[in-house]
Amino acid sequence: MHAPPTEGVDASVRVPVHVGIIMDGNGRWATARHLPRAEGHRRGVEALRRCVRAARELGIRFLTVYSFSSENWSRPAAEIAELMGLLRFFIRNDLAELHASNVRVRVIGERANLSADIVSLLNEAEAMTRANSGLTLVVAFNYGGRQEIAAAAAAIAADVAAGRMKPEDVDVDAISTRLQTTDIPDPDLIIRTSGEQRLSNFLLWQSAYAEFVFLPLNWPDFDKASLCGALEEFARRERRFGGVTPCPVP
Ligand code: IPE
Ligand code: IPE
Ligand code: MG
Repeated sequence: MHAPPTEGVDASVRVPVHVGIIMDGNGRWATARHLPRAEGHRRGVEALRRCVRAARELGIRFLTVYSFSSENWSRPAAEIAELMGLLRFFIRNDLAELHASNVRVRVIGERANLSADIVSLLNEAEAMTRANSGLTLVVAFNYGGRQEIAAAAAAIAADVAAGRMKPEDVDVDAISTRLQTTDIPDPDLIIRTSGEQRLSNFLLWQSAYAEFVFLPLNWPDFDKASLCGALEEFARRERRFGGVTPCPVP
C-alpha cells in the first residue's frame, strides 16, 4: 500500500496511499491573533489549497479532508453560515483548477440537511471530475463516522428483512461495502492539527489500522513541510496489522 517516493520527502520514505486530515485549530489560530474565528476559517481554505497541491506533488493517491462534522451543527448559526459559505466559495473558485490538475473530487457525509444550492455544487464537483485519474480528494462534509456506520446497518437490516441477505452473512465486508467510502482504500495515515488527540467521529470504521500523527500547529499554518514531516513520521512506524514483524534473515 505504498506509492513510490517522490520529490519533497526523504527518498527512502514510503508515501501512504491514503491520508486523512482532521483540519483543526482555525478558531484558535484566529483568537491568538485577536481576529474573528471566521478569519481563521478563511485562512484554513488557503491551507487546504496548499495541502492539495502538496499531496499531488508527493504522489498521495487519496486525500480525505474533514471539513464539517455532523456535530458541528452545534456551533453558533453565524459560524455555521460562514463554513457553508466557504464550502461554496471553495467549490466555485477551485473546481476548475482541481479539474485541470486531474483531481477527482468525492464528497462523503449526509446531504439531506444541506441547502439545495450546496448539494448541486457538490454534485457538480463530483460529476465534472468523475473521469479524472490523479489525486482523489475526498471532502468529508456534514460527515460523522457513527452516522455512516448506522446507515450501513440500516441498509443491511433492510436487505435481511427483504430476504436478500441472511443474518449469518453479515460480516466486515457487508458493512465496508455499504459505507460511503466503499471503493476507497482505508486511510494509512490520519493527521490532526491543533494538538488535540482524538478522532471526533472521523472515519471510525476505516481507521482501524491507520497510523496517527498529531501536529502541534493550527490548521491555517499547515504547509507542505508539515505534510512531509508527517509522512516521514509515518515511514518510521512499524505497521503490523495484528501480525508479527518478520525476522531478518541472518
Ligand atoms: C476546524 O477549526 C474547522 C472546523 C471544525 C470546521 P475549529 O473551528 O474547530 O478551530 P478550534 O478547534 O476552535 O480552534
Ligand atoms: C473536528 O473538529 C471536525 C473538523 C475538523 C471538521 P472539532 O473542532 O469539531 O472537534 P472537537 O469538538 O474539538 O472534538
Ligand atoms: Mg476544533
